[in-house]
Amino acid sequence: MTKPVIALAADHAGFPLKEIMAEEVRALGYTALDLGTHDATSVDYPDFGHAAAEAVLDGRAGMAVICCGTGLGISMAANKYPGIRAALCHDATTARLSREHNDANILALGARVIGTEVARDALRAFLDTPFGGDRHAGRVAKIDQIRTKEAVL
Ligand code: RB5
Repeated sequence: MTKPVIALAADHAGFPLKEIMAEEVRALGYTALDLGTHDATSVDYPDFGHAAAEAVLDGRAGMAVICCGTGLGISMAANKYPGIRAALCHDATTARLSREHNDANILALGARVIGTEVARDALRAFLDTPFGGDRHAGRVAKIDQIRTKEAVL
């Protein structure tokens, strides 16, 4: 089976980890689509969260890996897009469960929070784990069903 293209994006804080993740993605036989940033010059994390989300939604990539200092800001930006489920993961367990239960399509990592070996383990778990479907499918479908104040009242 053809392996999906994996997009990678990071701000300056996530840049070193993004480079390591790109190397790992290629070593695992996937095609990496590197959306930047490409050096340690200060940039704004939302630009890269948006770029990764758009690559997944328009089909240039099947999944994405995004990195900033904490993984928080870049995942918040990506998660503004309906259909994007960016999971901020801290280890292989959260990465595995983000796929199994939440059908996450973007792995978010905090380069200043986790070590590179833990990040590698999380990446492998994320890429290796299929969505569990079944009882989780309806819950995932509800994520994009935003309830407005008017609808609730
Ligand atoms: C950059 O200094 C830092 O704020 C950013 O990488 C990220 O951690 C934001 O959530």
